[in-house]
Amino acid sequence: MIGWTMPDVHRDTKPIGEIAWHLGVGTALLAVMACRIAWRATHQPPPHNLPNAMRAISALTHGALYMLLLAVPLLGWINASSRAWAVKLGGLVALPSLSTVGSSLGHAMGDVHSALAWALLVLIGLHITAALYHRFVLRDGALQRMMP
Ligand code: HEM
Ligand code: HEM
Repeated sequence: MIGWTMPDVHRDTKPIGEIAWHLGVGTALLAVMACRIAWRATHQPPPHNLPNAMRAISALTHGALYMLLLAVPLLGWINASSRAWAVKLGGLVALPSLSTVGSSLGHAMGDVHSALAWALLVLIGLHITAALYHRFVLRDGALQRMMP
């Protein structure tokens, strides 16, 4: 994932190079997620017949993936604003600032951003493992549903 291109930042680091890349790709992902959620809200997938426990775990994991995919870039944006960094959608379109420069909230959200990014990585690993489990152990076609 893009997040791990983020080099260590310090108080007076300037948002250029890899950091500009991180912000550009991260905000583009946020835009993609907005489209995805709008699509998903209006298009229900066909029902699947899984045992209840598995259905609950799946709903929990997918819900958490959606939440983190929104929260992680948003919190990064808040932190970037508190550093007075220009945040541009895809590195091109200037976006507004989400917190005042030097705000303690913005500072704290930087740490939350990094921590939740790790949680997201773990969930993605769990999610891919589950997809492979369905494909090769249960052989129940859960993966094929993703692929038209
Ligand atoms: C899903 C998208 C993103 C992921 C997975 C992600 C992941 C990460 C990770 C893992 C770090 C920690 C790097 C380190 O400690 O060396 C980090 C730091 C940072 N990210 Fe992101 N990021 C994303 C999107 C964004 C966006 C959209 C912005 C701003 C618009 C942003 C701004 C920052 C900033 C300012 C830091 C430094 C935080 C600090 O140390 O206080 N990130 N990001
Ligand atoms: C090898 C990579 C991946 C495979 C094989 C895979 C496979 C799947 C499968 C089979 C589903 C269930 C679709 C259904 O029948 O309802 C699914 C749903 C989902 N996946 Fe993945 N996935 C992969 C990577 C990812 C990644 C990297 C993310 C996020 C960064 C992600 C986020 C989601 C989300 C949010 C859902 C829920 C969709 C919904 O119900 O609206 N997936 N994936």
